[in-house]
Amino acid sequence: MGDLITIGRHILDTERNFPEATGQFTGLLQHIALAAKIVAGEVRRAGLVDVIGSAGRSNVQGEEVQKLDILAHETLAKLMVESGYLAVMASEEVEDAIIVPNDYRRGSYVVNFDPLDGSSNIDANVSIGTIFSILPRKTSDDDKPTESDCMQPGNRQLAAGYVIYGSSTMFVYTTGAGVHGFTYDPSIGTFLLSHPNIRIPEYGRIYSVNTGNQRFWTEGVRRYIDSLHDEDAERNTPFSSRYIGSLVADFHRNLLYGGIFLYPADNKKDPKKYKPKLRLLYEANPLAFVVEQAGGKASNGIQRIMDVEPTELHQRVQLIIGSRINVEEAERFIKKYDLSG
Ligand code: AHG
Ligand code: MN
Ligand code: MN
Repeated sequence: MGDLITIGRHILDTERNFPEATGQFTGLLQHIALAAKIVAGEVRRAGLVDVIGSAGRSNVQGEEVQKLDILAHETLAKLMVESGYLAVMASEEVEDAIIVPNDYRRGSYVVNFDPLDGSSNIDANVSIGTIFSILPRKTSDDDKPTESDCMQPGNRQLAAGYVIYGSSTMFVYTTGAGVHGFTYDPSIGTFLLSHPNIRIPEYGRIYSVNTGNQRFWTEGVRRYIDSLHDEDAERNTPFSSRYIGSLVADFHRNLLYGGIFLYPADNKKDPKKYKPKLRLLYEANPLAFVVEQAGGKASNGIQRIMDVEPTELHQRVQLIIGSRINVEEAERFIKKYDLSG
């Protein structure tokens, strides 16, 4: 049996790579791993304890909130506030940034998270996930934290990752020293290192996009996707289409197998009609950090995702993410056909 490396030990080893890392950073990551275990338990029980089905209200995104969304949010928010490592956090489920109350110890970090990603799939027992992004606070430790602490470009992230509640529960994260995957072993109640140093293939033959929206796509996006259906030995097309409707599950598969995921945005002719869907701070940025650390790319078609300056907390962004060569190809189509004005 190989070396049993638990996530706790891996995080501690990671701390040794960061001389300036304080125990706070390690403690925060371990708290997120603990939250993942708790949410995994809630997800696994969801079919039994009537958390299935909508909670009868909608979130700031105007989307019907599933009860598991609330449970996942409350679990993460509670653990983050109690950790003492956090100053402020942003959650998909709450309109405003959540500032750690001053009767709790405040720390030097910020976490933006999507507590439950793919919630439309909960009732169908399809893989769903949690996505998190860790930033340093901008305000000084003795000032009051603010929403602006959450609104920093992705290139300021210290760590990011996701949990995927699939046939097994996996925790995948990066602190800027590669991407590492852990699989949950319920018999010992911990995540064990199963995928050290994940690298995404330079070029993949899977594309993931909701073709039901193609009437809204810009010309560049449409021409790129059409080109993937051609017979072209050089580009190794046609590709296979794989789309689950849970970003974490689609992303994770493409990370391991290679490929490209797109959630295209505004239709240039009538931008008001159709908005991009995925959120910058707690969906695009964390996955962009992971994919870049695995050798891939993440862009909005024009710009590196991690260089986009946030202007609002729940800002949405066009997301093109995956194998480097595939993303660069999509960018060439967009720059050629969509920037000509
Ligand atoms: P969330 O459940 O956190 O709102 O995220 C859902 C997102 C993402 O998981 C997925 O890629 C996308 O919605 C699917 O959207 P469509 O159903 O419009 O394709
Ligand atoms: Mn989501
Ligand atoms: Mn969500």
